[in-house]
Amino acid sequence: MNLPTKYREIILGGREPGEAYQKCMKALAAHGRRTDYGFTEAIVYATEVRYATEILAKGRPKRFWNFGDLEGGADERHYRILDRIEHLDIAFVGSGPYPVSAFLIKERYPTARITCIDNHIAAHILAEAVITRLGMDVATRLEDAIDVDYRPFNAVVVAAMVSGKRGLVEKILETSDAIVIVRGRTDLSHERLIQLGSTFRDDGSFGLNIP
Ligand SMILES: C[S@@+](CC[C@H](N)C(=O)[O-])C[C@H]1O[C@@H](n2cnc3c(N)ncnc32)[C@H](O)[C@@H]1O
Repeated sequence: MNLPTKYREIILGGREPGEAYQKCMKALAAHGRRTDYGFTEAIVYATEVRYATEILAKGRPKRFWNFGDLEGGADERHYRILDRIEHLDIAFVGSGPYPVSAFLIKERYPTARITCIDNHIAAHILAEAVITRLGMDVATRLEDAIDVDYRPFNAVVVAAMVSGKRGLVEKILETSDAIVIVRGRTDLSHERLIQLGSTFRDDGSFGLNIP
């Protein structure tokens, strides 16, 4: 990890985790800094690991805040698509140590089956512990996104920080009948593909056009 002092001070400065994340985003936008995956992961994990450990210590928070939604309205955009699908069986790809998006989806669709997929061992173990602590019926899998068999799912949500989104989306569309919601843009076009704007690059690192 090579996290510049300024960002280290923001994320370790005692702020509420999501507030610290958003402050880092504003600093990145203001300074036009180039980032890579390691830098991105350090800031995202500083946020998510804190939320996860807080829940492990104290239980359910007052609310689940989708802190990464800088412009607002992201959850509603997902719901407009998922509302139309019966018997939801969702793969959430890139769930992170604190799978808040999966929790929000589960709250809206209590009977939906949700499987959280992540290739990072710390994310997998923490997410599993948080899910158990919250008593939620959400499955977890430690696997690289590209290796997953997507045929059983009727909806796949791909998180913005997932690396290799283009190749992954192509595989999901070719090998399953699932509706695919990707947070970010690829050059692909397909009737089952919905691409939501995101500031993350295809390799999962922060882009510079942060609002
Ligand atoms: C931090 S999460 C962001 C999602 C957020 N927690 C949410 O609920 O919306 C992004 C995760 O994607 C995972 N990831 C990145 N590339 C991946 C890949 N190719 N396969 C599986 N997981 C991946 C990272 O390990 C990271 O934990």
